[in-house]
Amino acid sequence: MNDVLAGRALTKRFGQTVALSGVDIAIRAGEAVAIMGPSGSGKSTLLHCLAGIMKPDSGEVHLLGSRIDAMRERQRSALRRTRFGFVFQFGQLLPELPAEENVALPLMLGGVARGEAVRQAREWFGPLGLGGMEGRRPGELSGGQAQRVAIARALVTKPAVVFADEPTGALDQTTGHDTMRLLVEATKHNGASLIVVTHDPGVARWCDRTVEVRDGRLLTAGMAA
Ligand SMILES: Nc1ncnc2c1ncn2[C@@H]1O[C@H](COP(=O)(O)OP(=O)(O)O)[C@@H](O)[C@H]1O
Ligand SMILES: [Mg+2]
Repeated sequence: MNDVLAGRALTKRFGQTVALSGVDIAIRAGEAVAIMGPSGSGKSTLLHCLAGIMKPDSGEVHLLGSRIDAMRERQRSALRRTRFGFVFQFGQLLPELPAEENVALPLMLGGVARGEAVRQAREWFGPLGLGGMEGRRPGELSGGQAQRVAIARALVTKPAVVFADEPTGALDQTTGHDTMRLLVEATKHNGASLIVVTHDPGVARWCDRTVEVRDGRLLTAGMAA
C-alpha cells in the first residue's frame, strides 16, 4: 500500500471523556483529506495522535511503515520537525520576527544556516501571493496573508504530511476559501499529503475526500476506496 500515514484502532480518553473510540484511518501519498464533525467530536485529538503530538491510549500510528506512537518524545519531536508541517487556526507566527524569518525558522531548527534558510524561505512568498511581504511582521499582515505565511512555514521543510486544524476558522468566508485553495494546491504541488480539520463544507470540497467524525468514531471509512 502507498499509505503515508495510518492510524489503527486509535483510542484516547480524558478522564471520563472518550475522545477517540477505535479510529482506523489511512492517508495516501499526495492525498488531501478533510476531517469534519461537530465541536467536541474528537477531530483535534485525532489530528494530534496522527501527528505524534499526543500518544493514543491504545492503537498504533504508522508513518511510511514505521510505528511512531511508541517512539520516545525526543524522536517524535524530531519527526514532527522533519516530516510534518502544521497550520493552526490562528497562524501562531512569532510576532517579533519578520514573515521571512517565521518561514525560515523550521529550517534553522533543523540546522540550516540562517542565510540559507531565509533564502529558501523567500522562494515561497511569490507563489503564495506574498511578494513584497517578506520583511513584514505578523501584526502588519492581514489574517489571510498571515495564514499564507503559516502555509509557507508548514511546507518549507518539504514535509511528508501537512496537518491543519481549522486553518480558516478565524477568516471571513471568501478569504478562508482562497486560503484553503492555496493550502491544498501548494501541498499537492509539493507532493505532501494533507489532513485538514474544517467546519466548512465549501473548504472540504477542495480535498480529495472527507471523513466524518462523531463521538470519537468515523462515520465514513477512513481509507480511500
Ligand atoms: N486536554 C484535554 N483534557 C480534557 N478533555 C479534553 C482534552 N482535549 C480534548 N478533550 C475532550 O475530548 C473531546 C474531543 O475533543 P477534541 O478532539 O478537541 O474535539 P474537536 O476538535 O472535534 O472539537 C471533547 O469532549 C473535549 O472536551
Ligand atoms: Mg478541535
